[in-house]
Amino acid sequence: MTRIELTVDGAKVSDDVEPRLLLVQYLREHLGKTGTVIGCDTASCGACTVHLDGRSVKSCNVLAVQADGASVTTIEGLPADGALHPVQEAFRECHALQCGFCTPGMIMQAADLLAENPAPTEDEIRRGLEGNLCRCTGYHNIVRAVRHAAGPSVAHGTDGGTA
Ligand code: FES
Ligand code: FES
Repeated sequence: MTRIELTVDGAKVSDDVEPRLLLVQYLREHLGKTGTVIGCDTASCGACTVHLDGRSVKSCNVLAVQADGASVTTIEGLPADGALHPVQEAFRECHALQCGFCTPGMIMQAADLLAENPAPTEDEIRRGLEGNLCRCTGYHNIVRAVRHAAGPSVAHGTDGGTA
């Protein structure tokens, strides 16, 4: 067992974990953070995406011990002061989900994308989300939601996009 100490959704936690334990398993099974989901076993779907020190990672592709000393934000820690994060609000507004299974990871990835590039083109959004798979929506409303979250100049197509 290895001792880890980290911050998860603003709370300090420490635990003894198996060195092989995946971060996603730690979040779900040790901390009850079941908002972060597992959609594959090949690190390809992105459903497990969280922020590790502010950058999105697939938490099934990171060991819990690698998060020692870090700050992790899950979909459950994204809202601030009881209000939805702008990307969450935009997904709700634009009907950017159907079954919702991909949604936590999609929102975490989109939030990171917008933090890096606050005014992305449609192409940049599609490329930024290419590691996150959705079986239901055809992606159109997801892209529209990210454009909506980015603000009026992006949402209304002044960057040449089509949403
Ligand atoms: S569960 Fe992590 S990428 Fe699919
Ligand atoms: S909404 Fe069902 S997988 Fe994306």
